[in-house]
Amino acid sequence: MTDSATACPVQPRSDDRKSAALADSAARPQPGFAPVTSFAFARDIMRSPAVRQGMEADYFADKDPGRTPVIFLDGELHKKRRAQLARYFTPKAIKDRHQLVMERTTAELMAQLRRNGRGRLDVLSLRLACDVAAEIVGLTNTDASAMSSRLRKKFRASSRGKRSGLLGKLGRLEDVARTLWFFRRDVLPAIRHRQTQDMDDVISFLVREGYSDQEILVECMTYATAGMITTREFIVMVAWQLLEKEDLRRQFLEGGEEVQFAILDEILRIDPVAAYLYRRADQDMTSSDGRQVKAGERFLVDIRNINLDEAAAGECPLAIDPERSKREKMPSNWMSFGDGPHRCPGAQVALHETRVFIDALLRLPGIRLAVPPTLGWLEEINGYELHGAIVECDRA
Ligand code: HEM
Repeated sequence: MTDSATACPVQPRSDDRKSAALADSAARPQPGFAPVTSFAFARDIMRSPAVRQGMEADYFADKDPGRTPVIFLDGELHKKRRAQLARYFTPKAIKDRHQLVMERTTAELMAQLRRNGRGRLDVLSLRLACDVAAEIVGLTNTDASAMSSRLRKKFRASSRGKRSGLLGKLGRLEDVARTLWFFRRDVLPAIRHRQTQDMDDVISFLVREGYSDQEILVECMTYATAGMITTREFIVMVAWQLLEKEDLRRQFLEGGEEVQFAILDEILRIDPVAAYLYRRADQDMTSSDGRQVKAGERFLVDIRNINLDEAAAGECPLAIDPERSKREKMPSNWMSFGDGPHRCPGAQVALHETRVFIDALLRLPGIRLAVPPTLGWLEEINGYELHGAIVECDRA
């Protein structure tokens, strides 16, 4: 897949993207889906009731739709499930519940950094993302740090499993073993606890709905991938950009929350964690500019290029410009969290936790990026992975 936007005519070298070259060489979208790169058309597709989730979900084809993870559902059942889950993602839930977890874990991680004088960004950010998502999901009956480490190893094995040959086979075996280990150590204790006590979280809800242990594991893995891994990568990307760009860092530290969120949204616009989504039309539809879509057409919603569409983003689309969405009167999240019925319910959670963590990190005395991250590609999220970055600060 290629990034089609051209360099900025005003500042010809202002391409602030970090993951574009990798995406060009590593992204392997499924064939047979027509790429969509226009923001307006993508929005029509994503919002249309005639269009369905296009991801292949063979595993769920012969399963009870009432027990299918939300991301693979469509229509009325999906709408009902989203309404049932909405309470865990409201601004009030963020303020009253999740913000506490964000601040507590961030304080613990910053104290750890100050003690050691250095730390690995992806390990720190996964721990935060795990703690926050775990509280929403209800994976709170085991040690948070140990669970984060178990999940990190599980996802590493899953990446290895994508290789060909013997190494790939071993990776897949390890992936299964580590998933079962996560199930035994973290998921089962959480389920058993909630069978006797309702905790007002996703697992409590699934227990009430009569999901089996295995079905709950599948839903937990959806949240682990959709909520934990994505946020881990986003936090590292933001830290990398802001530790490198002094002006932007100053703007972030001196700005209020509104400025900080605008900077996060811009970083995510040019380097969206999820590069693309799949959709298929179930019925004929007409887009807002009169284009006819026929039932059966399949689309690759190319978020990377949609976010760079000059018709929506305005000039110099490759540059980070926190004023952009306001100036262009566009939604601040662009297409980075999707749109329509499947739009990410965790978008505000992810932005809040990233803001809390990055603000604390950048205020540590002597904070610097000692080793920049290595880029890799993660099929689970159709997006980049940033591993191995090391930050250093003055020791307390
Ligand atoms: C920067 C971080 C994140 C990014 C970039 C991201 C991105 C996305 C995108 C693009 C989708 C749409 C998928 C589709 O239309 O097929 C999505 C869906 C979803 N996300 Fe996120 N996400 C993030 C964080 C989170 C968090 C923190 C949670 C929960 C704790 C979460 C939970 C979900 C769920 C459950 C869905 C499926 C919703 C549905 O299909 O109705 N995400 N995410």
